Amino acid sequence: MRTDTPQPVRLSDYRPFPFLIETTSLEFQLDPSATRVKATLSIKRSGDAAEPLVLNGERLKLISAAIDGQGLSANQYALDAEHLTIHQVPDAFELTTEVEIDPSANKALMGLYMSGGRFCTQCEAEGFRTITFFPDRPDVLSRFTVRIEADAAFPYLLSNGNLWEGGEVDSSQPDRRHYAVWNDPFPKPAYLFALVAGELDVLEDSFVTMSGRTVALKVFVDPGQAPRAAYALDALKRAMKWDEEAFGREYDLDLFMIVAVRDFNFGAMENKGLNIFNSSLLLAAPETATDMDYERIESVVAHEYFHNWTGNRITCRDWFQLCLKEGLTVFRDQSFSADMRGEAVQRIKDVKALRARQFAEDAGPLAHPVRPNSYLKIDNFYTATIYEKGSELIRMLKTILGAETFRKSLDLYFERHDGEATTVEAFIACFADASGRDMSDFFAWYEQAGTPAVSLAHAYDETAKTLEITLTQSTAPTNGQPIKRALPVPVTIGLLDGEGEVLRDSEVVLLDAPASTVRWEGVERAPVISALRGFSAPVNLTTDTRSVDRYVQFAADPDLFNRWEAGQTVARELVLGRAAGTPDEVGEERYADALGKALVDDASDPAFKALLLALPTEGDLSLAVDPVDPAAIHAARVHLKAVIAVHLGDLLRRLHGDLQSGGEFSADARAAGKRALRNACCDLLAADPHAVNVERVVGHFESAANMTDAIGGLSALVAIGGASAEKALAAFHAQWRHEPLVLDKWFAAQARDPGEGAIGRILALTAHPDFDAGNPNRLRALVQGFSSGNPARFHDETGAGYRFLADQILAVDGFNPMTAARLVEPLGAWRRYVPELGALMRQQLERIREHVGLSKNVLELVSRALD
Ligand code: ARG
Ligand code: ZN
Repeated sequence: MRTDTPQPVRLSDYRPFPFLIETTSLEFQLDPSATRVKATLSIKRSGDAAEPLVLNGERLKLISAAIDGQGLSANQYALDAEHLTIHQVPDAFELTTEVEIDPSANKALMGLYMSGGRFCTQCEAEGFRTITFFPDRPDVLSRFTVRIEADAAFPYLLSNGNLWEGGEVDSSQPDRRHYAVWNDPFPKPAYLFALVAGELDVLEDSFVTMSGRTVALKVFVDPGQAPRAAYALDALKRAMKWDEEAFGREYDLDLFMIVAVRDFNFGAMENKGLNIFNSSLLLAAPETATDMDYERIESVVAHEYFHNWTGNRITCRDWFQLCLKEGLTVFRDQSFSADMRGEAVQRIKDVKALRARQFAEDAGPLAHPVRPNSYLKIDNFYTATIYEKGSELIRMLKTILGAETFRKSLDLYFERHDGEATTVEAFIACFADASGRDMSDFFAWYEQAGTPAVSLAHAYDETAKTLEITLTQSTAPTNGQPIKRALPVPVTIGLLDGEGEVLRDSEVVLLDAPASTVRWEGVERAPVISALRGFSAPVNLTTDTRSVDRYVQFAADPDLFNRWEAGQTVARELVLGRAAGTPDEVGEERYADALGKALVDDASDPAFKALLLALPTEGDLSLAVDPVDPAAIHAARVHLKAVIAVHLGDLLRRLHGDLQSGGEFSADARAAGKRALRNACCDLLAADPHAVNVERVVGHFESAANMTDAIGGLSALVAIGGASAEKALAAFHAQWRHEPLVLDKWFAAQARDPGEGAIGRILALTAHPDFDAGNPNRLRALVQGFSSGNPARFHDETGAGYRFLADQILAVDGFNPMTAARLVEPLGAWRRYVPELGALMRQQLERIREHVGLSKNVLELVSRALD
């Protein structure tokens, strides 16, 4: 049983730091197990004269500390596990500290650590305090100069900003130590500090900015991997150009660097001038990366680059404001991807991800506002709510105010707050000032957790030709927020007639009360209402739309998002109906028929058709019922897939054949869309596994000329199971065992195996020589691939799946609490499951909570989950 109760950090406790750190000079003597860091800070008091200087510092061995060159005696300071406190300091002074740290022992991958024999850093949110003593908070901005010294085994020495000088330290010495000095002219908070040292290959290019400055671009990767960085570099140039055009944002240093590392807790990090990436989000070649990888690389490269303005030039006052940079930057990267790859397809993918991750989070005990007001570990708040819902809020601002005012507001934000660490309030004030509108209601979106339920009912008067649409909203209570307010919900609505002809173009209706009715005159024919077009607000919409009208939308809605959504809604009803014991066989055939028609529509894009063909995921379906019976949902979904596969067999096989492309690989959206459709056909054919189809799927796998097709085939074979799956897995492993990123996919494919006995095989994989829980990519491939990607087996009735997850969480928590905490979520949903399963999930959460030595990260999440 734990006795210590960690105290939460609260937004309401915010106080400015009472000192300014005008300059920070760091000197690193790099050594894998004993690195020395000397820090010289020039400090000025800005607050009360009585305030002591309190610096953050964890796991640091203090060697010395001095003020203006005078060593501190033991009674002048206090040192605890988290702080260095100097009781009395002058109003202006220079503080020098020297510490020793052990990067090779750092398996938490926060601060300075080793990956693949190279030094690298991750400081956001609170990693800098494990490098040196410093006010490690985002509102303390300082000008950094960094001197790095290492021996010849580490040829590249990189940090933020511009390279000032470098060379050999003393060429007469045998160890040939060398050094580099970097200076970053832009004041920044410590979380944006970065250092990389080691042997790397570099791919170089340049970009001429809108004002004519030439920026050198360098992407550093493991030796031998440079060709695989070409796509990321190309995406970077497109992102730089796009940000100039779409937002008027120009890059500000003469150099922009990206480094890829294999061991990284999350996707990537926007350190000033020196972004550090998980190699899975940077390296790509047709043989090793799927189209989804290419897509994500493009968007994450853009995301981190866009942070240079939304995050770095303007940062957050405190971590409660995280969405200020993350929500806005996700919105910017989504807009970029939409311009690169097509608006509707991008929107559908973004909404699928939003529902899968954020709606699930918002529906469970881990629900929190986009701007939370307390936390134990800020690392736990890098969530889908902060990122994805945060982005939806920005999108709504654009929808409500219009593109022009939206841009004007952001221009004002950049002008007003450049160089500052600011707040969401200050951000929203820019929208109010630029638009002349009162935005105070909108702020509730930042403060209120939970997904609003919106319902739409309509009444059409045939003689008067009037249409009344009544919208209502409500938000269910969430942990700590029993009472909810009505939010301003922009609902974009258009009308079709029963033949699918346009009756009315889109219009934005702002629902800003619990209920409101709008009346449209001159509606000539009985309308089909297409509401929430483009998913204009992050809500759950239910409508009084009749089933026939959904088919009208599915065939003809000019809003492609809603065309797709109509199909998903029908599919959801069919699967859930069957899962609840009320199958609708006629409906299933009819749906398959409509899909068949959509597939042969020459006007629509293959990428879009691929999305139409994919049924709602089991996760998505489980959000629509209470309580969830995962086995029933799985069986019903498999059944609908099989119906479609049988009904459309000839068409699917024909398309699958026709779409096969010979010739050169292109990663562009058009080519990727065709591959997506062909793989969607393959996936469906696997649901009707008679000999002809199995042979086709095997052929798909064996003749794959790129990783997209190889993984498509492999996943389909794993879903079929049996000897052909075994054979394919063995062949895949033999071919790729020396490519870590590809091997991750091999683990992930097996983690998603829905077959009987899969848990045993997955357990066995944790003992596979290639499994390494210390590497977050490998760990997530297997463990998260299973817990999030394989609901049928995760929710095994014996509870074996839950036990497996809890075991993994506890094992990883021993050395990497941040990554361990990110695995907790699937168990958190226990209340939504049928009681037998819910109780088993709860048991594992309790077991985790009781574990001696549990980290604050995991403790916070399991406690909230059990609340
Ligand atoms: N700022 C980074 C990004 O979104 C992510 C940093 C994640 N940090 C963390 N402690 N989880 O681009
Ligand atoms: Zn970000």
